[in-house]
Amino acid sequence: AKIHHHTFTIKSKAYTRLCDTKNILTVNGEYPGPALKAYRGDKLVVNVVNNANYNITLHWHGARQIMNPWSDGPEYVTQCPIRPGESYVYRIDLTVEEGTIWWHAHSQWARATIHGAFIVYPKRGSPYPFPKPHHEIPLILGEWWNKKNIMDIPGNASKSGSEPAISDAYTINGQPGYLYPCSKPDTFTITVVPGRRYLLRIISAVMDEELFFAIANHTLTVVGKDGLYLKHFKSNYLMITPGQSIDVLLHANQRSSNYFVAARAYSSPFGAGFDKTTTTAILQYNGVSLNRRNQLVLPYLPPYNRTEASTRFTNQFRSLGSSNHPVKVPVKIDTRLLYAISVNLMNCSDDKPCNGPFGKRFSSSVNNISFVNPSIDILRAYYRRTRGVFQEDFPRNPPKEFNYTGENLPFPTRFGTKVVVLDYNSSVELVLQGTNVLASDNHPIHLHGYSFYVVGSGFGNFDRRKDPLKYNLVDPPEETTVGVPPNGWTAVRFVANNPGVWLLHCHIERHATWGMNAVFIVKDGPTKSSRMVKPPRDLPSC
Ligand code: C2O
Ligand code: CU
Repeated sequence: AKIHHHTFTIKSKAYTRLCDTKNILTVNGEYPGPALKAYRGDKLVVNVVNNANYNITLHWHGARQIMNPWSDGPEYVTQCPIRPGESYVYRIDLTVEEGTIWWHAHSQWARATIHGAFIVYPKRGSPYPFPKPHHEIPLILGEWWNKKNIMDIPGNASKSGSEPAISDAYTINGQPGYLYPCSKPDTFTITVVPGRRYLLRIISAVMDEELFFAIANHTLTVVGKDGLYLKHFKSNYLMITPGQSIDVLLHANQRSSNYFVAARAYSSPFGAGFDKTTTTAILQYNGVSLNRRNQLVLPYLPPYNRTEASTRFTNQFRSLGSSNHPVKVPVKIDTRLLYAISVNLMNCSDDKPCNGPFGKRFSSSVNNISFVNPSIDILRAYYRRTRGVFQEDFPRNPPKEFNYTGENLPFPTRFGTKVVVLDYNSSVELVLQGTNVLASDNHPIHLHGYSFYVVGSGFGNFDRRKDPLKYNLVDPPEETTVGVPPNGWTAVRFVANNPGVWLLHCHIERHATWGMNAVFIVKDGPTKSSRMVKPPRDLPSC
């Protein structure tokens, strides 16, 4: 095992996209940020130096941080932010991770530009569970806002209760691509040699929309997701939510020419304003340059509201279940949780004005609670037994009278900083129930500190009696960010064997901004090796 040392300096730097130059927050001046590379079994020590004018924290999305929540990163959940001029050292021990994960800022909307790939190769000397690719290419999907200062977006939205500003472009490796103004020459280009196999590590750092993704004339072989392997399957397109990573093999089996790689939104038909543009990269054989005789071909992408296409794709996920990657689905469940997740409208008060529709303000909630950041991080308050920072009475079920998928229900959301406390080693089933309170929407729900098995999902209200009979307990996919279908539900299972304070939230940033967050506290186990480590000395204070 090797220890990798890195310094990540947060600083502002001018970048030009869509004919517009603006200062954005970066790591070491790079956008997207540097790719971290390590082998399973390695450790990373990342010294984050904040030379920007904003508070910052970093999160290692998909890294489990076993017994070490202090390095997880969500602000006011596991740490206070690193203030301008200060620094903090994150420690990541890659004991179970293997595949493509990523890292991103976890304060305000800074992750729009502060993000990068995090590649974990199999243990030194171990093979991939698929034919060895000739090359590997990370593809980071992102979003770009013209003019607007991204750091103002969440503040404005939560002050006014209105919809946050929508982006002006999607990007592939930081480039909007061929179809946007002023972007053609910089379109990201993948050069391939006929006959070779490429591993594309596709990461969605997009803030607010799920995307369909495809490559013209090429079928993709999906081999992994969220840094966990899947049984291989072929698909002509992908659906990837914010927060997810999908590994695909691309066989360069076409004629020497140029093909478009393209992505555009998959969004709820009710989704208000969203960015309807298409980002592209170019797949170029043998360096054949673009000319009139090899016209670029766009791939087929399902229409933006085609939920059926999204479901058809994600229903194919299955755990690999090889001897090196066994399936360990909890079968006896002792803790059952049902979380209704919804976007709502809320009445306003003097300090909370109403600039949303119908004279109300947007909010979102989990079981009726719209999460509010505490004044110091929950982890420290829990560890030091500081009272008054959070309450332990987060509801384990939604309010009784609630018909999740009915039409436009009035739904009185309350603000709160509440947690669910889980005993060490409890086996948990969490059903995430989408709602139609304001409008149905897709919610990519991410759990920190864990991976979970996605044992079932469906449309309508979850039925406690009938739906569990249809669960897949044989080879359900193991994931860290799962898309909950619009007006539907998803059931996940995990064993709470990682003590700490762990955030569960929607990875659509506007939903998280409105309060779609929940927190688990997992108690320490009985032995020294099942207790969380002590806080580091350089832990920032609020
Ligand atoms: Cu990708 Cu809470 O994060
Ligand atoms: Cu959401």
